[in-house]
Amino acid sequence: MSYADVSLKQRPFGQTTRPDAWWAQPLLVLAGLSAFIVYSTWAAFQGEHYYDGPYLSPFYSPELFGDSPHNWFGPRPAWWPAWLVFSPALLILWAPGGFRLTCYYYRGAYYKSFWADPPSCAVGEPRKHYRGENSFPLIMQNVHRYFFYLAVLFLFFLAHDVWKAMWFNNTAGETSFGIGVGTVVLALNVVFLGGYTLGCHSLRHLIGGFLDQLSRAPARQKAYGCVSCLNRRHMLWAWMSLFWVGFSDLYVRLCSMGIWKDLRIL
Ligand code: FES
Repeated sequence: MSYADVSLKQRPFGQTTRPDAWWAQPLLVLAGLSAFIVYSTWAAFQGEHYYDGPYLSPFYSPELFGDSPHNWFGPRPAWWPAWLVFSPALLILWAPGGFRLTCYYYRGAYYKSFWADPPSCAVGEPRKHYRGENSFPLIMQNVHRYFFYLAVLFLFFLAHDVWKAMWFNNTAGETSFGIGVGTVVLALNVVFLGGYTLGCHSLRHLIGGFLDQLSRAPARQKAYGCVSCLNRRHMLWAWMSLFWVGFSDLYVRLCSMGIWKDLRIL
């Protein structure tokens, strides 16, 4: 078979022969992620209006220490330095935040949109050599699997919050079963986060790894099929869950502030 050596000339940064609007998606990602980062950071530092009756904002769950009836270990601990801002969200948000930050999908998305390296497929890059994720700091992205374990734990916490969101106190101090719009909002949050978390690439590796032939382990093959099914729409789950977790916080916040009134369905 004959072949010829062709030397490819590297295009200057941003140059391409692509005729489509390749820049549109990175731009949307930049706008969407920036909006979420700004809102979630603001909400996490508030330290108030994060619960309303049986509803607890997912940004503050689990509430390890705090002033709401949902706290696990009591109010702000005495050993907390007075000069350091305190908010229950700051104690736990690093875990779901780290999970998203190191997600395979988000990495591809924010490398393109936040520092254009690469800007997109077949578009000139800002530097000549490919460094990948082999060296510091991006090699740290490999901790994703450990964040996955934590993210699964959070699914249980948030599902428990949905259960608690079905028990309402009346004016006489009695507790009764019910479902409000807030219950549905928090339940959908668990569904979307579940679809995102359980479609994680790391889970696929965990289930499908260490085997030469997956078909020899039928149960694992089935589980692999389920995870792969979610994984095929990982980007969609990622965005739906991102939007909804932010909206869930906003819903609880506005109800707590008295701006929105929660409607009881049952
Ligand atoms: Fe996206 Fe694991 S790869 S959550």
